[in-house]
Amino acid sequence: MAIKLTWYGHSTFNLDIDGKTILIDPFIANNPLAPVSVDDVGADYILVTHGHGDHMGDTVEIAKRTNALVISNFEICNWLQEQGVSNVHPQHIGGGFPHPFGYLKLTIAHHGSALPDGSYGGNPCGLLLTSENKKLYFAGDTGLFYSMRLIGEEGLDLAVLPIGDNFTMGPEDALRAVKLLEPAMVIPIHYDTFDVIQQNPKAWAKTVREQTSSKPVVLSPGESLDV
Ligand code: NI
Ligand code: MN
Repeated sequence: MAIKLTWYGHSTFNLDIDGKTILIDPFIANNPLAPVSVDDVGADYILVTHGHGDHMGDTVEIAKRTNALVISNFEICNWLQEQGVSNVHPQHIGGGFPHPFGYLKLTIAHHGSALPDGSYGGNPCGLLLTSENKKLYFAGDTGLFYSMRLIGEEGLDLAVLPIGDNFTMGPEDALRAVKLLEPAMVIPIHYDTFDVIQQNPKAWAKTVREQTSSKPVVLSPGESLDV
């Protein structure tokens, strides 16, 4: 079985794993790149990397409608329960758990995590998912950090990295991240959603091809990839 991964723009993904739908950072209603509407998405699981509005997105509404299990850090899960989302599974950095869709470990990310109402959202996270004999790393919002080398040692089939600059790594640091992570494939995200994060992903992909052995995959919003 392959993992079917569909990009909804920004940091939002829909993963289809063995018939289960896993949404990552479901920022849809206010996402100018989203090719779907909030009412149309289904979910069995929702993974949230950190508390910022462009990642928490429509989690509360979708979770209440679908009763999806929301997986995030401990502080965000507590906040979600206060919002009336009862079906949560808290984890934290360095900790993994064998969910039905795969083994999910939270990783460090260097960023912030305040929730939309200003509540404390704990530390931001990346996601390391082992599923269907594949290893996928979603960096979340982060700057470059050298311990990406440790994550790369796990042997990545795919890395998903922000390239937008301003709030996260820009193209040059994301290229350095590819060199530390050495994934078989890499997808750039978190660009073009807002004016301050306009980038040229095709130019970035060309540099990745020239300077690394990783295969860059530039998706359009709504486009899918089988991993
Ligand atoms: Ni953020
Ligand atoms: Mn963000």
